[in-house]
Order: sequence, then C-alpha cells, then structure tokens
Amino acid sequence: MKREKKISVVTSYDYTLASLCDRAGIDVMLVGDSAGMVMLGYDNTVSVTMDQMCMFTQAVSRARRDALLVSDMPFMSYQASVEDALRNSGRLIKAGADAVKLEGGVAMAKTVRAIVDVGIPVMGHIGLQPQTTMLSEGYKVQGRTKESAIKLIEDAKSLEDAGVFSIVLEMTSREVAQIISETVSVPTIGIGSGADCDGQVLVIQDLLGMYEKIRPKFAKRYMNLSDDITKSLQDYKKDIESGAFPAGENSFSMNKDELEELREQIGS
Ligand code: KIV
Repeated sequence: MKREKKISVVTSYDYTLASLCDRAGIDVMLVGDSAGMVMLGYDNTVSVTMDQMCMFTQAVSRARRDALLVSDMPFMSYQASVEDALRNSGRLIKAGADAVKLEGGVAMAKTVRAIVDVGIPVMGHIGLQPQTTMLSEGYKVQGRTKESAIKLIEDAKSLEDAGVFSIVLEMTSREVAQIISETVSVPTIGIGSGADCDGQVLVIQDLLGMYEKIRPKFAKRYMNLSDDITKSLQDYKKDIESGAFPAGENSFSMNKDELEELREQIGS
C-alpha cells in the first residue's frame, strides 16, 4: 500500500470492538500493550504479561474477518534473549496474530532478524518507546535535534535491513517522520508523528473518547463515548429506581391457561 493508499491502524483488545473495527474496514488491528493501561488500569505498559497479550489476541482473532492482526510483544518478552523472542512471538502467532510488533531500532535488529527468519512477520516501533523511555524520560517528542534525528533514521534503516514489514513511528517530529517515510521501502505507521507517514494508528479508547486518564495532544476524538456511556448508565439507574425498566416489552409472560390452572392449584 506504500505510496498508493494510506493505511488505517487502530488498537483492539476485545471481541466486541474488534468486530466493529473489522466491519468498518480498518486495515490493521493492533493488539497493543497499551491494553495494560486502557483495559487493565496500569499506569504504563511495563506490567503487561505474555498471558494477558495472548488472551487479548485470542479475543480479537475471533472477531477478525479481513483486517491484518498484529500483536505487541510485552516488556521483557524479547529483550533478554533471542530464544525468549522466538518462543514468545510464536505464542502470539498461535494465539491468532498474523504478525508481532516490538520496540527498538538498531539494538533490536538482531532479534527482529531471528524472528523474521523463522517465518514470523515483524512490525518495528521506534521514536517514543513506552516500554523503556516512559521509565526515564516520560512522554517526550523524539527527533527534534539533528543527533536524535540521525539516530532515528539509523534505527529505521536497521529495522528495514532486518526484515520488518512496517515501522511504527511514535511521537517523532514531523520532519523526521517524513524523511524516514521517504527513505525506507516499508510503510511507516505514525502516532503523533504527522501526516507524512504511510499510515496512522490510534488507541481506540482515544479515538472514541473513552479514556480520561491521559488525553494525548496528537489523538483526534471522533466521539465522546465516556459522556454518552455515563449518561446512559445514569438513565438506566433512574429507570430501575422509578420502575420504568423493565417495561412490558422487556418481560416474558406465561401461557394464560397455564397461569389460570396454576392460580387455581395454588389457591386450593
Ligand atoms: O501499544 C500500543 O497501543 C502501541 C501503539 C501506540 C502504536 O504500541
């Protein structure tokens, strides 16, 4: 799709929303380790486990019809050894993913090559790397200086050489994202990295306006679902208290003759 059609990517973690993403024609569903924050309530992605990622991947794969399904390798599932990386990427594929994503550039190229060599497609992820930079630097735009731009370009090239089929660029300056997108042959997927990437990814809770803890500047809210959901739940509570719910149409009745017979029997 590179240079032909922009690629739409959205995170998915559960069957219900994944079914809607697939029905909407989203190109790639990413089971991101952001699940740790938006689904499990952690402050960052570091605590997410392989078992949790496999469970989210299985749920999304049951919903998937057409979209490509990419699953994140969680923190410390690939950093300690290539053997870990192979075993854990295999687990995600067995859980239903078509491909895996991992964070890191030059430092991860050898690991990426090993995973690709056993036949598992890999998506790279450079720029802000929440699994590690969140612990030291926090949310900080990457690639604003010449040195950091050069490092990012080298990261992207090393991932391309290692065989990734695509690279996520998270919170990089627009200019670096444009240079990388023009330089590498694989599609770049931006998140907070400007319009020149080959595709865009957003966390679905940000897009639907459902996650209130952090509101990233780069995310566009297409609706305010948290307000709508809160209002609906308040209406539901009111209806229960007033007796407006359940109404006749929400209930089931007995056969009239059976009811009469029952009343007679109970009465006698
Ligand atoms: O975990 C995630 O949601 C991600 C995207 C932000 C790219 O990695």
